[in-house]
Amino acid sequence: MRTDYLGLRMKNPVMLASGPWSRDGKSIRKGIGAGAGAVVTETIVTDSLTDTCPRIAYNGFGAQNIRLYSDIQVEGWPEDMDYAKESGGIVIASISASTPSELAYLASKMESFGADAIEISLSNPMWESLEIVASDPETIFKMTREVAANVKIPVAVKLSQNVTNISRVAKAAKQGGASAVTAINTIRCILGVDLEKCEPSLSTYGGYSGAPIRPLGLASVATVAQAVDLPICGAGGVDTYEHVLEYLMLGASAVQVGTAIMLNGYEKITEIISDLEEWAKKKQITHVNQIKGRALKNLKSFDEMKVGPASYTADQKECMTDCEKCIKACFYDAIEKTINNVDINQSLCEGCGLCSFVCPQNKLSLVW
Ligand SMILES: Cc1cc2nc3c(=O)[nH]c(=O)nc-3n(C[C@H](O)[C@H](O)[C@H](O)COP(=O)(O)O)c2cc1C
Repeated sequence: MRTDYLGLRMKNPVMLASGPWSRDGKSIRKGIGAGAGAVVTETIVTDSLTDTCPRIAYNGFGAQNIRLYSDIQVEGWPEDMDYAKESGGIVIASISASTPSELAYLASKMESFGADAIEISLSNPMWESLEIVASDPETIFKMTREVAANVKIPVAVKLSQNVTNISRVAKAAKQGGASAVTAINTIRCILGVDLEKCEPSLSTYGGYSGAPIRPLGLASVATVAQAVDLPICGAGGVDTYEHVLEYLMLGASAVQVGTAIMLNGYEKITEIISDLEEWAKKKQITHVNQIKGRALKNLKSFDEMKVGPASYTADQKECMTDCEKCIKACFYDAIEKTINNVDINQSLCEGCGLCSFVCPQNKLSLVW
């Protein structure tokens, strides 16, 4: 399933997100070798910072990281870009800086080293100050304008979810000359607290990533897609081909994968792409445009939502568990256990819907 993103013809819509899995030529080559449609480099800055240890924590659901940008300063990237691009493949350079001129410098350097496009990454959940920068449309406009004016290759802006109005920031990026936006970066978090040591998991705020942030990424992509006419790359919690399709159907042209590679290796990319290709073949879809935004049509505003009367019904299949999840989830006392099934008292059921989501057997469905 091909796609066109940032003016680049990609053989598939699955990209490597910016992160340590794309920190140098060797790792980028691994991503390209795994079949990725494109790879975004780890963010490149003028002065690399020393990393702290430990810097990545995981709790079985999501990850928190306090990793700081690429270890390779911009001047060190020509060899790595050459090596990365030797095998073919699209490489997008992620850059960050605190002033427009510094950003433009980084962008033109990376262009001269062979980058196919630029992704500006301004948010960073470790520093509140950068989250403020990333949510200020005026700053985003100025930063993007300076970069776009100084390179010939296309420019994308990576958006933070820590903003009050993501559409305004996306519009500012467009006005500044961006050809696309990526949504979303990691989200400011504290993964947990060690109760014996009274210490937060990583001793400071970090970026939350992986499965738990996918619903936030999906909402951000849909919000931008509804408000701004600009190609979008979705990111956040992509782990299967179905997740890729969710992003595409909500308006993305491509997606990025990060944490899933961190936890499962580059073969995760190969697996997602091969499952996606199989799905696309069955559905006779050859280009992302054939499905892009399909679910957006069914995304209503709250005011357009259907109001009652509605109730739930249980199918005739035997209830195979004693979980009673539906009964516990029913605040209206409408569900009772019978010998082999559950019984729904229609006069009490208010049609809230929760029972159908908690039932492990998918027994319950809504009747209008
Ligand atoms: C360890 C780690 C390092 C990251 N480094 C960067 C970075 O240098 N630049 C950037 O823009 N995003 C960075 N990200 C964010 C990812 O590119 C991505 O936007 C985010 O993790 C959501 O996708 P995921 O849930 O698939 O990981 C990093 C994420 C992680 C987990």
